[in-house]
This record gives sequence, C-alpha cells and structure tokens, in this order.
Amino acid sequence: MAQQLLYLIFIFPLLLLVLLRRRRFASRTPNKSGDGGGPCRQRSHDDDNHLPPSPPGELPIIGHLHLVGSHPHASLRAIADMHGADGLVLLRLGEVPNLVVCSPSAAEAVLRTHDHAMASRPHSVVADILLSGSSDVALAPYGEYWRQARKLVTTHLLSACKVRSLRRGREEEVRLVLAEVGEAAAARAAVDVTELLGAFVNDVVCRAVSGRLSAFSAGHQEGRRRNRMLRELIEGNAALLGGFTLLDHFPSLAKVGALTRMLCARATRHKKRWDVLLDQIIDEHAASSRSAEEDGDLVDVVLSLQQEYCLSREQVKAILMDMYAAGTDTSSIVLEQTMVELIRNPHVMTRLQAEITSNTPKGQKMVKEEDLMNNMAYLKAVVKETLRLHPPAPLLLPRITMEHCDVNGYTIPAGTVSSSTHGLSAEIPGHGTRQMSSCRRGFFIILVAPTTHPLTT
Ligand code: HEM
Repeated sequence: MAQQLLYLIFIFPLLLLVLLRRRRFASRTPNKSGDGGGPCRQRSHDDDNHLPPSPPGELPIIGHLHLVGSHPHASLRAIADMHGADGLVLLRLGEVPNLVVCSPSAAEAVLRTHDHAMASRPHSVVADILLSGSSDVALAPYGEYWRQARKLVTTHLLSACKVRSLRRGREEEVRLVLAEVGEAAAARAAVDVTELLGAFVNDVVCRAVSGRLSAFSAGHQEGRRRNRMLRELIEGNAALLGGFTLLDHFPSLAKVGALTRMLCARATRHKKRWDVLLDQIIDEHAASSRSAEEDGDLVDVVLSLQQEYCLSREQVKAILMDMYAAGTDTSSIVLEQTMVELIRNPHVMTRLQAEITSNTPKGQKMVKEEDLMNNMAYLKAVVKETLRLHPPAPLLLPRITMEHCDVNGYTIPAGTVSSSTHGLSAEIPGHGTRQMSSCRRGFFIILVAPTTHPLTT
C-alpha cells in the first residue's frame, strides 16, 4: 500500500498531463464505438442510468483506488456489502471500470449466463512481459490461441490418463516428506509446516512438469538447486502478477516509453531468469529420446505436440510457466489449512483417522491414490470444507467484458473488468467443482485427487 501511494505521489503530475491531453483529444473526436474496443453496441444515456451502484468518495483521476487496502478481496467485499445492490458494485480503479461480484446470483450471471461475453482477461503489462504477450492459458485473452492452448492443456497435459501416469512420482515425494517428518520427530525437532509443505508441493509439481531432475530422482544437488530456483521464480511471479501495477490501472501511461521501462524493469529481470532456466530444461528434453506417452513428463508432452499446435518456443515456455505456477501455492495452501482445521477440531481428526485406518490394507504404511477412488468420503468432505473455508485464491482471476451485457438488470459496459469473490461459485446450485469445466474459463483442479479431475469430467 505504501508503494502504491509513493507511485501515485511521484507520478501524479505526469498522469494529470496525459489524462488532460487525452480528454481534450477525446472531446474533439466523435465516439464511434460506444465504449471503445470490443464488439459492443452503442452505449446510450439510458444504459448509464442502469449501471450498478458505485460507492461515494470517488476522487478525480484515481477514482476509488484509495478505498482498496492491502487485502483487496476484503476491501472489495466490505465495499460491496455497504454500497452494492444484488451483490454488484461498480468502482473506478484509476482509468478502468471494475465490477465487483459478491453474491451467488451475480456470480452465476457472470460465470455462467454471460460466460461468453465475460470470458476474456484484461490486458496486463506484467503478464505480457512474463508470459510473452500472455501466451499461457490462465491469462491469455479469449480467442483462437487461448482455445488451442486450453485444448492442449485439457486433453494432453492434465488428462486423467496423464495425471495417473505421474502417480509414482507423487507417491515417492510423499514417502520422502514423511521420512523427513519422521526424522524430525525422532530428533524431537520442530518442523516448520508451511516451509515443509511448500517445498513438498513444489517438488511434486517440478517432478510432474520437468521430471528427471527432481530432488528425489536425481538424488543429487543439481535437482535440489533447480527445484529451489523454480520455487523462487514461482513466488516472484505471484508477487509481480498479484501486486499493484500502476500501468494496469492507468493504461494511457503506457504511451510514455521511459516510464513503462522503469515500472516494468523488475518484471523484465525476472523474465530473463525464467528464460535461462526454461531454455535449459527444454534443450535437455529436446536432446533426449524419451517417449511423451509412456514415462514422459509435461515438458516431453508439450514438445511432442509443439508442431501440431504451431507453438513458438516462447508460447511453450508460457504454457509451462502456468503448469509450474498454477498448482503450487494453491495446493500447499489447501494442505496447510487442512492441517490447521484438523488441529483446531480434534473430533474431526479422530473420525478421519478412523476412516483412513479402516480403509487402508493392513501393513500398508501409506494411503495410495487408488484407495481414494471409492472410499474415504470423509477425507474428501474435509478437503472440500477446507476449500470452502479457506479458498486459496479469494478473488477469481479478473475477466473483462467483451460486449455490453445486462447482469441482474444492470448494464455492464464493454471493457469493464470484473472481480468475483471465490467461494461464491460453490454456492451456485449445481456449480460445484465437477461443473466448473462447463464454463469457458473457470476450472478447478485438485492435485491430490486426480481421479476427480474436473477438466476430464
Ligand atoms: C488445490 C489446488 C488448486 C486450486 C484450489 C485451484 C484453483 C483455481 C482457480 C480458483 C482458478 C481460477 C478460475 C477462474 O478465475 O476462472 C484456477 C485456474 C487455473 N488453474 Fe487451478 N487450482 C489448483 C490446482 C491447479 C493445478 C495443479 C494446475 C495445473 C498444473 C492448475 C491449473 C490451472 C489453470 C491452467 C488455470 C486457468 C484456467 C483458465 O483460465 O482457463 N490448477 N485454478
């Protein structure tokens, strides 16, 4: 927040200048497309009267930015509770109109009824740098490239069959982490559970994506070093993509080249570090003759399909970055919060232990993934309840409205960014994790339960 304020103080005069010039130019130019950008119908005065409510206190230039604190999901929810109607409130964050979606019926309208009109992602300068023009899946704008990239991911990388084929690696990593806990217990040493689970999930994901040099399989320092570096890079992505980016709120400033370079310097340096590592991983895989179908990891699979999907090397790297990053924080947060809830609720822990003991064959030391298929209903309920209580991503990824549409009787102009509070989708009737795959953008994957992988249902 302090950084946000500093930016605003230093950049305020420049911003004022650019906006005034823009306004003067706009007043001389007739508006041909209504809202500008996107296939939308002409916006009329009547439409403006039906916009969702906005909170008071809008300031010149920054709009409602000052109302958003360091926990945006909490600020947005509080604003919507106080000033919203039907779970909708419209804010102006800098130059960009933002629709906050905070009720199950509004979330249903945005995620399901108007899924098509609201399926794209807003432009982000940081994502453009890190993901080579947002050429990944999660942040790619809606269109043919995104459709193809998503097809590649759903049918080849995260198919039930591929996820099952990587099972042995996951089980080895579980054995390793349990051995570490056992050693700590024998030495009566404390365990930093956040660190332990973070490193464990990172190793599982790295092993699935680029395999061979995981900390376990290589059994030597190079694997550990590479996994540590990937973890650092993934954390850097989260900080850069999740943080406040002035240019995303004031897109007209992007015209000032020197300013853009200055504001994006950190992202550019970070991308260079990714490039060095990903180029090395891709070159090593390309030089080996391992089959993608049998024991191949996700890099093998993407490289085997690169020509068929006409992917450039940069696009391959962007898709791989999603594969490394999307499942790491999310999964470790779920694991950690489940532990916390079990410690807080000893009666739940006792019932869960009883279910696990009675459903695991005698002499078998670990729950296997096949044990989860038809048994362990209580374990699944505990994980689902944890997801409901502690959604790992409290705000869904932002969407941008591609054409004018009406949500719960309100007009949402094209070009509006919408932010939905996560957890609401679970409240929409029939919109549980399995149905998620039916909506164009949102899907939901649980790393530890590949058989219920919603992408494949
Ligand atoms: C407990 C684990 C996980 C949780 C809670 C989770 C949650 C989510 C959420 C909330 C979204 C945003 C949906 C939206 O805003 O539209 C998302 C998107 C996505 N997730 Fe996950 N995720 C998990 C694991 C994974 C894993 C393991 C992968 C792949 C390796 C993955 C890949 C993706 C991708 C590619 C998207 C973008 C989908 C799109 O925009 O079409 N996720 N996930």
